[in-house]
Amino acid sequence: MTDPRPANVVALTAPQAATDRLGRPLHDLRISVMDRCNFRCTYCMPRDKYDGGYRFLQSSERLSFAEITRLARLFVSLGVRKLRLTGGEPLLRSNLADLIGDLSCIDGVEDLALTTNGVLLAQHAAELAANGLRRVTVSLDSLDPVVFRQLSGGFDGLDQVLEGIEAARQAGLAPIKVNAVIQRDVNEHGAPALVEHFRGTGVTVRFIEYMDVGNRNDWEPARVVPSRELAARIAARWPITPVAGAYRGEVAERYAFADGAGEVGFISSVSQPFCGNCTRARLSSEGVLYTCLFATSGVDLRGPLRAGATDAELVALIAGAWQDREDRYSERRQLNRQAGEHRIEMHYIGG
Ligand code: GTP
Ligand code: 5AD
Ligand code: SF4
Ligand code: SF4
Repeated sequence: MTDPRPANVVALTAPQAATDRLGRPLHDLRISVMDRCNFRCTYCMPRDKYDGGYRFLQSSERLSFAEITRLARLFVSLGVRKLRLTGGEPLLRSNLADLIGDLSCIDGVEDLALTTNGVLLAQHAAELAANGLRRVTVSLDSLDPVVFRQLSGGFDGLDQVLEGIEAARQAGLAPIKVNAVIQRDVNEHGAPALVEHFRGTGVTVRFIEYMDVGNRNDWEPARVVPSRELAARIAARWPITPVAGAYRGEVAERYAFADGAGEVGFISSVSQPFCGNCTRARLSSEGVLYTCLFATSGVDLRGPLRAGATDAELVALIAGAWQDREDRYSERRQLNRQAGEHRIEMHYIGG
């Protein structure tokens, strides 16, 4: 592989960790590589609002792999140890494995993961793993083909997603996680089937409370199934015990099955917000840095990058944005929603 660094990049030898105004270190960088998606999940890109006039980014507006790699290296110099590629659907980005190869060469990266809807995973899993991807998280909300089709916005991709998970396992992209967004009266009754299917396979299912991300999913609190309720239902059938978090800022509460058949997780951003430990920065595919999933504005890095900014200037911009950070949207959800601000969309920033 060729060295992805532009000629003007010098290795940063004196890393300085960045901490925000609430004392939270910068530890994770989530990189969206594509704002488009081959699904139209009702809670993220409802068809009626996306099939028509929505303007997705042009290719030239998206950061190139060399630009992403350069920025990622600078984030690492400020304390980032974990990189996650997201979309929209990241596997729609051509030659994504090349980017994985470039990112996996950055010194200091301890974890390199990908979040995908899984439809294209079977065809890419082996190459991604060969280029240095460590693990994948696959979004899968139901094993019932009718519910799957309804939630994905009319796609029959369930078999392909399951094949993708199997291919990931064969490629060694472990631990594999399955993320299921649960909505009241929509797919809540299928939650035990997901647990039953993946228990004992090494794949961890994580249930996500339906969130009010973006501006287009007509979110309402009545559709949220609190994790405690879901956990109690699951525990009644398969006894579970809490597991300590693996690292500061882990979003999922983890439980182990008492019979040793693995773990199940709950991501409870609505009922039990975890902003206090939030160590995640997000980079959009057009190069805007956001410090919260619910942000209303971000810091443009692409402009300075393409105008010839030095590494030191870019580091100062990133560090400044993180040091100014006070975000804790989920802890102030009620107040924030009343403010009625325009938030970034999930498919644009990648969850
Ligand atoms: P692991 O590294 O495997 O623990 O994954 P992760 O939890 O960091 O990433 P993943 O993409 O699997 O996140 C799961 C889901 O949790 C996301 O898709 C979001 O729906 C939600 N989530 C992740 N990070 C945040 C966050 O900072 N704030 C909120 N409100 N939700 C988040
Ligand atoms: N609430 C909770 N999770 C969501 N995701 C997308 N939209 C929402 C929402 N409104 C999740 C997807 C995927 C990840 C990228 O974000 O299911 O796992
Ligand atoms: Fe669904 Fe993820 Fe695509 Fe959004 S980005 S429509 S959640 S598959
Ligand atoms: Fe972090 Fe914002 Fe999510 Fe809170 S709401 S955990 S600050 S991304």
